[in-house]
Formats: sequence, structure tokens, C-alpha cells
Amino acid sequence: MSDKAWDQIEAYINEIENTECSDMQALEQFRIRFLGSKNILKGLFSEIRNIENDRKKEYGQKLNDLKSLAETKFQQFQSLLKKSEREGSKKTMDMSLPASPFHQGSRHPVSLVMNRIIDIFEKIGFVVSEEREIEDDWHNFTAMNTPEDHPARDMQDTFYLKNSVTNLLRTHTSSVQSRVMTSQEPPIRIIAPGRVYRNETISARSHCQFHQVEGLFIDKNVSFADMKQTLLYFAREMYGPDTKIRLRPSYFPFTEPSAEMDVYWGLKDEIDYRITKGTGWLEILGCGMVDPNVLINCNIDPEIYTGFAFGMGIERQAMLKYNISDIRLLFENDVRFLKQFSSVI
Ligand code: DAH
Repeated sequence: MSDKAWDQIEAYINEIENTECSDMQALEQFRIRFLGSKNILKGLFSEIRNIENDRKKEYGQKLNDLKSLAETKFQQFQSLLKKSEREGSKKTMDMSLPASPFHQGSRHPVSLVMNRIIDIFEKIGFVVSEEREIEDDWHNFTAMNTPEDHPARDMQDTFYLKNSVTNLLRTHTSSVQSRVMTSQEPPIRIIAPGRVYRNETISARSHCQFHQVEGLFIDKNVSFADMKQTLLYFAREMYGPDTKIRLRPSYFPFTEPSAEMDVYWGLKDEIDYRITKGTGWLEILGCGMVDPNVLINCNIDPEIYTGFAFGMGIERQAMLKYNISDIRLLFENDVRFLKQFSSVI
């Protein structure tokens, strides 16, 4: 019997090597014969007890090889048949049938406004600079002329990281200014979009996280007039060619002089009265000439270089543009809300 078993193995090897499965039915027959629960190899495995002791190992090896040959052959046929099935179904595709629905995603309103602002400034040579949201105290405050005991720190309620007195979530994108100025030589012309954090009570009007875009321009002979002209260009691109702006004196520790820019929104209806507090003017951004102390902190010589900076919030502009009444909607990711922006590019 044992000689017969050896011959049988050879015969099956031969058979498997010469088998062709031309369809799924043939493949299934192959599977049942060689790999199914009652496959023909089982008898050969039980035959092992009749094999001479010194050849048992060789026999077992041979049987295992036979079994893996059957498995490999099965997988090869299976993938070949599936592939030709797929290709066949492609050929018979009915082009006159309606296409399956295509679900178009949508950009978030904050991204829409942010991208628009970036586009406007890129056109006049500003380059995007993105930086970390976890900042240290020096880049966020000290370098920006706001030392530890400075009352201006109270203007921005800060989230400090647990167990740290120096690491914080940046309270404004102005921190990018100090990052860039300490790592690049002037001329510098950057725009820095990003998320910022403040410890504020969440309501319809304010949130503990929001977005800003910062701008910084440092070169020789940069003047307040350059800043005003740049911001006028921005306002007209953003709000229309007839947009009027005004600059009101203000205070920021990192700029001197400092200003806030309003655009004329008008008083056409009741909502305009509410959002402009009855003045027709809407505050859009803070700006100013970079304070010489900031330049010194960042190793730039204020005798050689001057510059201007500005920073604006994105959420309020998005809310105005798309008539959104509650800032929280911008952070809840409710698809019913987000879907409404799918037609906007
Ligand atoms: N960092 C200020 C804020 O968060 C905004 C700002 C004001 C940025 C004046 C500037 C600037 O660059 O010059 O309120």
C-alpha cells in the first residue's frame, strides 16, 4: 500500500499541474476535490502510519507540498477568473444608463473666507507662512512687546498647557511674526492663517477657538502710507471696488502707532444697524507699524528696517458673508449646515 501512496502523490501533482479551470464551476469542482472538507488528500494523510519510519518525514513533506500546490493553483485560478469577470462586465456596461450619484463635498465657510483672503494677498507678493498652535510664552507675548507684568496680557485670556508655565495655545497669529522674524532676513512679506485659542465663555458671538489671518511686511522704508494702501486694496478686493475704509487710532503692544480698520457697510436695513451699532462702519482688523522693540527682540535693526503688520478674525467675516447668526455653528460640523456651502468654491 505504501508504494501506492507515493505513486498517488505523484499522480495528483501531475493532475493539478495540468488542470485548467475555465469557469467558476470548474474552480469549485477543483476546490472540492483538493481542498474541500472531504478532499482526496485526506486518505493520503492517514496513510502516513503505514510508511516506513525512516521515510515518514519525507512523506509528510511531500504531502504538505502537494497541499500547498493545490492551494496556490486555486488562488491563481480564482484571481484570474475574477479579473476576467470584471473586465467582461466592463465590456457590457450600458452607457445609456443614468450614472450613479456623485456626492460632492463642500468647503467649510471658514476655509472659503480664509482662502479668499490668502488669494488677495498672494496677488501682491505675500507668501503663506504656517506655524505651530502650541507656542511658548516668548513668541506669543514677550517677543511681541508684552512682558510678563504687562497689563495687555489681560486682553487675551490664555490657555496654558497643564503643568507648564511657558507653553500655551497661541492666543493670536501674531506669534507667527516673531517666529518668522527670528528665522528669516528682511525683506519679509508673509501672510499667516491659522487657529487661535482664548479662554472665553462660548456663546453665539464668541468661542474659545477661532481663526485669524496675520500679515507682516518688513523692508527698508516701509511707511504707514504703504500699509494704508495695502489694506485699501484688500478691502476693495474683498468687499467690492467701491468699498470705503477708515483707520481709527487704537492700541496694540506690538505696533506703534496702532489702528483699527473699519469698512463702510452701510445702513440699508435693520440688521445693518445692529451689526454696525448704528454707525454704518464695521471693524475688520487691527494693524500698525511694527514697534521697534519687536524688531529688536527678533534681532532686526530698527534703524535700517521698518514694517507694518495686521491681524484679522475670520469667523466674523464668514458670518457676515453667509448670514450666519451663531458662531457655534462653525464648529459643530453638522452636515446639514455644511452641505449648504457645496455650491460655493
Ligand atoms: N493680534 C491682535 C489680536 O489678536 C490683532 C492684531 C492687531 C494683529 C494689530 C496685528 C496688529 O498684527 O498689527 O487681537
